[in-house]
Amino acid sequence: MTEIPASSSKEESEKKIVYSETFEPLDLESENKVLQDELNKLEQENRVAYSGLKQAQDETALLKDMFTKASGELESLKKPSLLVGEVGTIFPKNKAIVKLPNGNKFYSHVSVEIKGLKPGDTVLVDQKSLNVVEKIEVCDELDVEKFVIVNKPTESWKEIGGLTKEIQEVKEVIELPLKKPELFKKIGIKPPKGILLYGPPGTGKTLLAKAVANSTQATFIEVVGSELVQKFIGEGAKLVKEMFNLAKAKAPSIVFIDEIDAIASVRMENGTSGEREVNRTFMQLLAELDGFNNLDNVKIIGATNRIDILDQAIIRPGRLDRLIEVGLPDEKGRLEILKVHSKEMNLQKVKLKDLSEAMTNFSGAEIRAACTEAGYFAIRKNRDHVTHDDFLKAIEKVRFEEEEDLQKGFYG
Ligand SMILES: Nc1ncnc2c1ncn2[C@@H]1O[C@H](COP(=O)(O)OP(=O)(O)OP(=O)(O)O)[C@@H](O)[C@H]1O
Ligand SMILES: [Mg+2]
Repeated sequence: MTEIPASSSKEESEKKIVYSETFEPLDLESENKVLQDELNKLEQENRVAYSGLKQAQDETALLKDMFTKASGELESLKKPSLLVGEVGTIFPKNKAIVKLPNGNKFYSHVSVEIKGLKPGDTVLVDQKSLNVVEKIEVCDELDVEKFVIVNKPTESWKEIGGLTKEIQEVKEVIELPLKKPELFKKIGIKPPKGILLYGPPGTGKTLLAKAVANSTQATFIEVVGSELVQKFIGEGAKLVKEMFNLAKAKAPSIVFIDEIDAIASVRMENGTSGEREVNRTFMQLLAELDGFNNLDNVKIIGATNRIDILDQAIIRPGRLDRLIEVGLPDEKGRLEILKVHSKEMNLQKVKLKDLSEAMTNFSGAEIRAACTEAGYFAIRKNRDHVTHDDFLKAIEKVRFEEEEDLQKGFYG
């Protein structure tokens, strides 16, 4: 309250009172408003801070969760993996013989938690102690049809240019015994079990094998040697066995082993497990070759580019003892192949004979490539027919590419 000075007049004092009465509440009110605003602002700030805190808390929880998961994963990654083995004989007191895929056998302890273990079961084995930790259910049946190509080829003899002598030989050794086994019985000779086709790449080895399968209506079972040893580690020998079982079940059939050198090359004997694996696969192949009868309606065709490194055991009598060389075609052969591949092409003034002359050292595959290229030259020129010149350019291109590949060492 404002004091009224004694000396001041009544009028003055009245004025003062009026003054103070008018202004004081206003002052308070505005102060109040300022405070209220301040409070509002603080409350607002508080709300923002609170929501920030909440967000940070949520984030912390999330990060914690991620951390736990990551450290859990890290823990599992650090743990050594378990070996997969196969149970052999089971002994009392939780003991069993366990065979690992590398062929080694161990007399191991079996965890008491595993019930009803039988020989042949698949189990997980600790790497260090080699004890059996767990039993697992795996699809034990190696579905051989998944690993090999089984089909009835459509290639016919007509699609092969040249190779007259080779075709004749393949017909004698593979086709005739499959078609007329009684002929061989009557004469009293045993036809070879299989043949080995060898020669440079792209000369028609696979084509020959497919054509003979087609002409005999035989099931064609194809497997690539390098895949057998690289893709199916530990399964190679088993696969070979299953493959021959399949061939017998689907007879008449032809087992075609491409790149046979990958399993049947002269061994270095360096004793690595990969080496042992290849050896086992090879041994199994020999055992299968020896195991079945010559007239069993199953024929084997091997193919290789590297006869020089092949183990002689595979070509011993009674195995793949008929060797057929499929070499680069001569000029006449090239002309025949050219005819096969240009048969469907719309040619104009093309002298095939001159072209086959220009294709020195071309393989069948290269001749086919030249035909395709010639077609492309015509397409680029917006023509619907192929000219002699297109072919000459195509030959040049294919030859250039072949030389480039050779320089890069594509063929080893
Ligand atoms: N004599 C031929 N007649 C017709 N076409 C051929 C002939 N030789 C090869 N070819 C063509 O080349 C392609 C490849 O031939 P193929 O696969 O038979 O060669 P390969 O000898 O098995 O080669 P690789 O050793 O590389 O496996 C065939 O699909 C075919 O189009
Ligand atoms: Mg081939």
